[in-house]
Amino acid sequence: MTFDKIYQYNFPTTIRFGADSSKELGDYLVSNKITRPLVVTDSTVAQLDFFKTLVSALQRKNLSVEVFSNIHKNPVKSDVYRGTEQYDETHRDAVIGIGGGAALDVARAIVLRINHREDLFKYDDLIGGDVYVVNDVPHFVTIPTTAGTGSEVGRSAIISDDETHQKKILFSPKLLARIVFADPTLTMDLPAAITAATGMDALTHNMEAYLAKMPHPMCEGIALQGMQLIHESLTRAVNKPDLESRSKMLIASLMGAVAFQKGLGVVHSLAHPLSSLLDTHHGLANAVNIPYGMEFNIPGFEQKFRQIARTLMLKEETGEAVVQYLFELNSKIGIPPTLSAIGVSQKHIDTLADLAFADFAHPNNPKPVSRNDFKMLYEKAL
Ligand SMILES: NC(=O)c1ccc[n+]([C@@H]2O[C@H](COP(=O)([O-])OP(=O)(O)OC[C@H]3O[C@@H](n4cnc5c(N)ncnc54)[C@H](O)[C@@H]3O)[C@@H](O)[C@H]2O)c1
Ligand SMILES: [Fe+2]
Repeated sequence: MTFDKIYQYNFPTTIRFGADSSKELGDYLVSNKITRPLVVTDSTVAQLDFFKTLVSALQRKNLSVEVFSNIHKNPVKSDVYRGTEQYDETHRDAVIGIGGGAALDVARAIVLRINHREDLFKYDDLIGGDVYVVNDVPHFVTIPTTAGTGSEVGRSAIISDDETHQKKILFSPKLLARIVFADPTLTMDLPAAITAATGMDALTHNMEAYLAKMPHPMCEGIALQGMQLIHESLTRAVNKPDLESRSKMLIASLMGAVAFQKGLGVVHSLAHPLSSLLDTHHGLANAVNIPYGMEFNIPGFEQKFRQIARTLMLKEETGEAVVQYLFELNSKIGIPPTLSAIGVSQKHIDTLADLAFADFAHPNNPKPVSRNDFKMLYEKAL
């Protein structure tokens, strides 16, 4: 890091973290004079007991609640348009996102669209569209129900084109939630496979953010602590969950998302094309790729890997030991060691390498990644 420059660091919104914090939602809305919220979730979460309990608690406070849950697994533009229509037609005054990263991304994109009615992808950050996000946005509250993306503290939403499946990023500091209710009890019954995949997404955020190029000592501290919490809790959260392991995973996933304002890297660029091309879950795609991506990153960054190894309390303080740890962790939580086990085959590799090279995450990787490097990494992981 050089000390002759000015850097900008942003830290997120108010977070109410802890068991049963989601029960504060009703009083919070009343005290902020919100009476007609649109609750955005996905169709699975909409059927879960905790969700129904949350909605009926709001209704008991005489709030008018509309639920929008008709969204795709990898959200698309038409999801956002339909949710916005429901907001308009039922005269809502706030948006509450409750769910995993997919539901929270749709909620955030609806928040953007309410007062920005040009084509949604005009606001795509990758073509500089953030400059058009100039109007006010409605009051926005997030309640995560997975411990992975950390989207609840984020300022961006990943939405795909309905036809091409190309992912677009909508970004603006205006899209931060005003408050997050992070309640680990909502994640208690997350199925093991989702806990494993989302948990590895959180670990990837922390590890890639720690290594990413941008000088940001504050985020590096958060990322190291995030890795330690995941080390202490992910295996238990998957195989024998209790409140402590669920709480540690939830806070670590928030920390990962706070830390990755510093940047992500090669692993997310390997993962993104798997979701757009083969509909692979984002966390699972990261989980399978992370040992290979980290192995690629070791040369030149031995010192940083030594610090990661220390944080993970490994006997050998080397990058190679970190890679070995990642393979072992995946195996303990039921994640396969190869891409072929999750439906990738040789015929996909050239397209995957093209898409990965075009992806937005790797320019922040500590070292450059070429198209050939991506091809080599996919082939190695196959
Ligand atoms: N905005 C960002 O910064 C950002 C970053 C990374 C990923 N993402 C996006 O996030 C999405 C992935 O999010 P995710 O990993 O949280 O997965 P998800 O939102 O797709 O949820 C995974 C599954 O878990 C279910 N689920 C959620 N909460 C549950 C609960 N408490 N109990 C039982 N089942 C539950 C959902 O219904 C879904 O079937 C992707 O669309 C990805 O593009 C966004
Ligand atoms: Fe991620």
